[in-house]
Amino acid sequence: MIEIRKIEPQDTYQIRKKVLREGIPLPFEFNGDLDKDTFHLGAFKDAKIIAVSSYMKAKNNNFRGTQYQLRGMATLKEFQGLGAGKIMMHKAYEILKDLHIDCLWCNARKIAVEFYQKQGMSTFGEKFDVEYIGEHYVMFKYLNE
Ligand SMILES: CC(C)(COP(=O)(O)OP(=O)(O)OC[C@H]1O[C@@H](n2cnc3c(N)ncnc32)[C@H](O)[C@@H]1OP(=O)(O)O)[C@@H](O)C(=O)NCCC(=O)NCCS
Repeated sequence: MIEIRKIEPQDTYQIRKKVLREGIPLPFEFNGDLDKDTFHLGAFKDAKIIAVSSYMKAKNNNFRGTQYQLRGMATLKEFQGLGAGKIMMHKAYEILKDLHIDCLWCNARKIAVEFYQKQGMSTFGEKFDVEYIGEHYVMFKYLNE
């Protein structure tokens, strides 16, 4: 069984490093990690943390209302495809709705677009390049639609 819990920012770093930063000379600590409005989720299987994601108050002018940005979504390779990412995102939707947040958005790696679409998110605009990582799309979901 996979269980989702709020975790400390530092608890995200190891999985971020391994899954999102291997061979990529970009920081694994994000501006906003420690902000009071930020929260971090971990997915646990048999008490082992297998996936992480972070949610930060951040405005994107393409969207309306109150907004959060999803960052650092990562599942350890050997645990991908078990539903951890999906369950974590749906937990985040609940938390954000309780906070009266209208819209969740993210900069999605192209390879993850289909995963996010399955969680109800849509792409916005043209693809763009992020140095060292590759093609991305802005994606978003209005939480009350
Ligand atoms: C993208 C990622 C976070 C998905 O996490 P996960 O825990 O493996 O995803 P889940 O098991 O919850 O998958 C949920 C659904 O999405 C699908 N899915 C997962 N990753 C996918 C991908 N890359 N492309 C297409 N579909 C994908 C699953 O097959 C599953 O489909 P189903 O509901 O029809 O069975 C994970 O693959 C990962 O860490 N990838 C590398 C890092 C990365 O790209 N992160 C995103 C940065 S923007």
